[in-house]
Amino acid sequence: MSSAYGGLSPLLILCLGLFFFSFPVISYQEISDETLKSLPRPKTDFDIHTGALLSPILRTRVPGTEGSRAVLNHFVDFFQSSLPDWKIELQNSTSKTPVHGNKDVPFVNFIASRDPPWAQAGDVGRLTLVAHYDSKYEPEGFIGAIDSAAPCAMIMHAMRSIDAGLTKKWEKMRKSGRKHQSLEGQKGIQVLFLDGEEAFKSWSAEDSLYGARSLAEQWDDEVNAAMSVYKTPLSSISLFVLLDLLGSKDPTIQSYFETTHWAYKKLAALEKRLRGLNQFKSTGNAPKPQWFIDGSKGEHELSGFGSIQDDHIPFLDRGVEILHVIDASPFGFPKVWHTLDDNAENLDIDTVEDWSVLITAFAAEWMELEGFMQMSKKASREENVNGKASGQWNKKTEL
Ligand SMILES: *[C@@H]1O[C@H](CO)[C@@H](O)[C@H](O)[C@H]1NC(C)=O
Ligand SMILES: [Zn+2]
Repeated sequence: MSSAYGGLSPLLILCLGLFFFSFPVISYQEISDETLKSLPRPKTDFDIHTGALLSPILRTRVPGTEGSRAVLNHFVDFFQSSLPDWKIELQNSTSKTPVHGNKDVPFVNFIASRDPPWAQAGDVGRLTLVAHYDSKYEPEGFIGAIDSAAPCAMIMHAMRSIDAGLTKKWEKMRKSGRKHQSLEGQKGIQVLFLDGEEAFKSWSAEDSLYGARSLAEQWDDEVNAAMSVYKTPLSSISLFVLLDLLGSKDPTIQSYFETTHWAYKKLAALEKRLRGLNQFKSTGNAPKPQWFIDGSKGEHELSGFGSIQDDHIPFLDRGVEILHVIDASPFGFPKVWHTLDDNAENLDIDTVEDWSVLITAFAAEWMELEGFMQMSKKASREENVNGKASGQWNKKTEL
């Protein structure tokens, strides 16, 4: 990602605003304190040397190299063995780069998705969780632990944590014949691990975002089956949540887009609740711990339309709703950014774990999984004792 802040034109802002009002209704349901307390933590799976999820990504993985193929295989293996109900696709492209002369370099995007089993693909709007998996060409040996090995592992853990809940929820809907939750059509979820985000030489429109540019273009051109709710795979993205530069201690996350500020605020609220319930292992910024620094602002109080160049840009340019979760403000990117210090040892693993729990919670709320998540024995005992503890699960927001 580039540190250059690009201004959005007023026209684009206007278009984004108009888009928002033509979108189908998105429903979103808070989960209870009991469910929050029972969300699984990744534990040893995030060990930097032996962890089943994270450690295989903590290596060089420059596009077109053996390291890249190994990490791609790790994603495929994980979904095939742990999440067999997910559909896996690889989207390929090639491009020249400023350092490869006439050679075509291959870029492979990894896509995994899960839809309600009865749904037509074109009728499903998907929460889309995104991180890039490539590492920088230079400096040699660059690992990119926060950029973005750790975000990939966070997403893997979150999807594993909600998978059984999705199965239970959809099974119940099927049995009761309630195949439509509301007017919105069907709700699914997908993961994009994108290739070729980094520049090979120096950041420019041509030397960066290789995978994202190819996928956004392809999904804009492809047309879903006739009579589908969504015209293209691109318009099937209900929210594009991009995670980048996460895994350093005490991150600060800004809200960039008025039309998705409501979703940013949901993350901010979950952060606060998880802290309140002592579910965060990392200590926050004293004296008032807060990652989501714009959580109490209204959407018209955001500090400007500045946006960071990252994988969301080709999607944003085509009208996709974006939530950019990046540790960038107000003091700039983490110190280790784009140096050899962005390595496994410098990750703050408690923070990485906390992120994975927060993302699990957000995905569970988006997919409306209250009542379907596996509860730990302790949490379900407490619930039996207290009755329906907080009543939080009743709250539902329509936007
Ligand atoms: C993309 O390339 C991979 C090899 O990296 C191959 O297995 C896969 O079938 C290709 N996908 C498509 C859609 O061509
Ligand atoms: Zn980077």
